[in-house]
Amino acid sequence: MSDIKTYIDQNKQRFLDELFEWLKIPSVSADPKFKDDINKAAQYIADKFKLAGAENIEVCKTAGNPVVYADKIIDQNLPTILVYGHYDVQPPDPLDLWTSPPFEPVIKKTEAHPDGVIYARGSCDDKGQVYMHVKAFEYLMSEKSLPCNVKFMIEGEEEVGSTNLGTFCKENKERLAADVVLISDTSIIDNETPSINTGLRGLSYMEVEVTGPNKDLHSGVYGGGVANPINILCKMIASLQDEKNRINIPGFYDDVVIVSDTERAEMNKAPFNLTNYKKELGIDDVVGEESYTTLERTSIRPTLDVNGIWGGYTGDGAKTVLPSKAYAKISMRLVPNQTNDNISELFTKHFYSIAPKGVKVKVTSLHGGEPAVTPTDTIEYKAAYMAMEKTFGKAPIPQRSGGSIPIVALFESVLKVKSVLMGFGLDSDDIHSPNEHYGLFNFYKGIETIPYFYQYYAELKNGNGK
Ligand code: BES
Ligand code: MN
Ligand code: MN
Repeated sequence: MSDIKTYIDQNKQRFLDELFEWLKIPSVSADPKFKDDINKAAQYIADKFKLAGAENIEVCKTAGNPVVYADKIIDQNLPTILVYGHYDVQPPDPLDLWTSPPFEPVIKKTEAHPDGVIYARGSCDDKGQVYMHVKAFEYLMSEKSLPCNVKFMIEGEEEVGSTNLGTFCKENKERLAADVVLISDTSIIDNETPSINTGLRGLSYMEVEVTGPNKDLHSGVYGGGVANPINILCKMIASLQDEKNRINIPGFYDDVVIVSDTERAEMNKAPFNLTNYKKELGIDDVVGEESYTTLERTSIRPTLDVNGIWGGYTGDGAKTVLPSKAYAKISMRLVPNQTNDNISELFTKHFYSIAPKGVKVKVTSLHGGEPAVTPTDTIEYKAAYMAMEKTFGKAPIPQRSGGSIPIVALFESVLKVKSVLMGFGLDSDDIHSPNEHYGLFNFYKGIETIPYFYQYYAELKNGNGK
C-alpha cells in the first residue's frame, strides 16, 4: 500500500471543500419542510461514491427518506465490509446560540483545538464521519489496492429512529449480505486515547398528554378548584424517579443484565476526570443512580429523561391562565436485555395507573430501538484495534457508550452480521447541540485509519479459512 498519509496531504483541501458542500445542505430529518434537502443530500453523496469508483449506485426510495447504496465487488471469494452511516442531521435549534450559522461550515481554531475544527450541523454526526469513508475508499481505489469487497448503505432517518431502514434491510438481505458492518458514528475517549465502542444503549421514546378542563380557564376564577394539568404532569414525572435516582416503574429493571464486578472495575480504569467533566458542563456536582460511577451511569445503566415539556402560556410577560393541556416528551435509554416493546408497555401502563382523578392522560410511543453490545474477541474487533493502534501509535480501549444507533441490533437479528463501532468523534463535539463541531485531526485520522481496517480485516479473515 502506498502511503495514505501522503495521499491525505496532497488532497486535504479538496476533501474539506467537498465535505463543506455536503454540510451546506440542511438535511434535517425531523422536520418535513427539509424534504428537498434530504433528497439533495442523498444525491450528493451518491455522486461522490460514483466519482470515488463505486458501482451499482442507487438512491433507493423507501416509505420515508431514501437510502443511498453503492458497492465495489472485486471478488466473490473475498470478505465483504458493509459501511453504514447517516446523512440526516438533527434540527439546529436553538439557532441564536450558534456562534456561526449551522449550515455555513467554517474552520475555527481554538485554544482546545489549535489544529482547527469544523463548525456545522452534521460535521461530526454523521456527515463528517461518513465522508471519511468515502475518501478512504477513493484512496484504495486510486491505488488499486482495495483488499476486499465493500458495500455502502447511508440512510436518512437515523436521527428519527431509522423507521424505514428495518424494512429496507429485510427486503434487501441479499444485496446487503456482508461479513461485517463498519460504522463511524461514535466517539473516542480523546485524541490521545483512542477507543472502540463496544456497546450502545437502546431507546424508548414516549410522548404524554395530560388534559384537565375542556378549555383554558382564568386561573383566578377557577384556580384552586380545578386540576391544573401542568401541575399534575410535573408531579407524575417527579414520581418516576426515587430518591436514589432509580426508576420507579414496576418491572423496569427486571431484564437488566447485571454487569460483573470485574467488568465494572475494568470499565472504570478508562481515563475520566470528574473535575474537568463538571467544569466543561458548568455544573457543581453530578447526579445519577446511587452506587454507580458517572461512566457506569452513562453506559451500563438505564435512564429516564424528560426531553421537553410544554403547555399553557410561555410568551413574553404574564398571562393568568389555567391551561387545558400539558405535554412532555420522555425518553428512556435501555441496556441489555431490556427491549423497547416491553419498556414502552411498562411505561404506558404505569403512566395511566398514576393519573389522578380530574385529568385524562394519553401516552404515545414515538420510536425506539434495542441496545447492542459488541464482543472484543472477534476478527473484526481485532482489525479495528490494529488499525487504530497503527495510526494513533497507541492501543485503543474498549468502551461502551450511552448513545443509541437503533439499527445496529437489527443488523445482527436480520442480516446476521456483527458491527464494529469505530468512530472518531469526541463526546465534547456538541452533537445535537448548538455549535456542533468536528476536529480536523479527527477527520483526517479517520481517513488514515479506515484503509488499515480494510487491510487487516481482509488479512485476518483470509488467515481464518475464508
Ligand atoms: N451518532 C449518534 C449516537 C451516538 C453518539 C452513539 C455518540 C455513541 C456516541 C446517533 O446519531 C444518535 O444521535 N442517535 C440517537 C438515536 C435516536 C434518535 C433514535 C440518540 O442516541 O439519541
Ligand atoms: Mn449519528
Ligand atoms: Mn445523532
